[in-house]
Amino acid sequence: MFITFEGIEGSGKTSVLDRLCPALSDEGISFVRTREPGGSELGRALRAMLLDGRTSLTNEAELFLYLADRAQHARQVIAPALERGDLVISDRYIDSTLCYQGHGRGMDLDRLIDLNNFAVGGLWPDLTLIFDLDPEISLKRARRRNIEEGIEVTQGRYEAERLDFHRRIRRGYLALAEQYPQRCRTVDASRPFDDVYYHVTQILEGHGISLDE
Ligand code: TYD
Repeated sequence: MFITFEGIEGSGKTSVLDRLCPALSDEGISFVRTREPGGSELGRALRAMLLDGRTSLTNEAELFLYLADRAQHARQVIAPALERGDLVISDRYIDSTLCYQGHGRGMDLDRLIDLNNFAVGGLWPDLTLIFDLDPEISLKRARRRNIEEGIEVTQGRYEAERLDFHRRIRRGYLALAEQYPQRCRTVDASRPFDDVYYHVTQILEGHGISLDE
């Protein structure tokens, strides 16, 4: 089974994964935890380029780097793990491109779906958990984390643009959840962490993955 975790930054998906994975190990479930960008060796080099902010990228070049990352990741990491019978959980996958590059940057969604299909050879997730949160809350969380880690805090116009961008992305995720109700489950990520985690375990339970809590 192939599961993806999706949502805007600061929605808590990575923290849930940090708690979930040891619980899966305790149950003796064989799984692979992976992420995008950066789930393969090539991907780690691409991740540095995509996220360091120093390399200037056009929107189109950025898209193709995400797709290159995904093509390698799907074929070299995800498909072999699924063939071995492992559960695969990826922090971000195709829906991130549909929401960030599509809804966020305004690229055509049908074209993005075609390009993604080509990149991964039709390997879509069986289940996608969408961590839904108001970007105002997630940006506050991110800002707090930055202050704690001593990283510069951005304010002003850039922040307002970011908020607007993330609002579009959130709407994109909610639209996906409506469009693919079989595959997507929405998790209310504004609730306390334990409740969010519990909801996730309930969803997994509904898909045959039981965790002792
Ligand atoms: P990351 O540091 O992994 O953040 P997070 O913890 O929020 O997942 O950064 C991933 C960033 O890359 C995030 O801003 C979303 C963006 N992204 C895209 O724009 N398109 C994509 O296809 C993917 C996979 C990620």
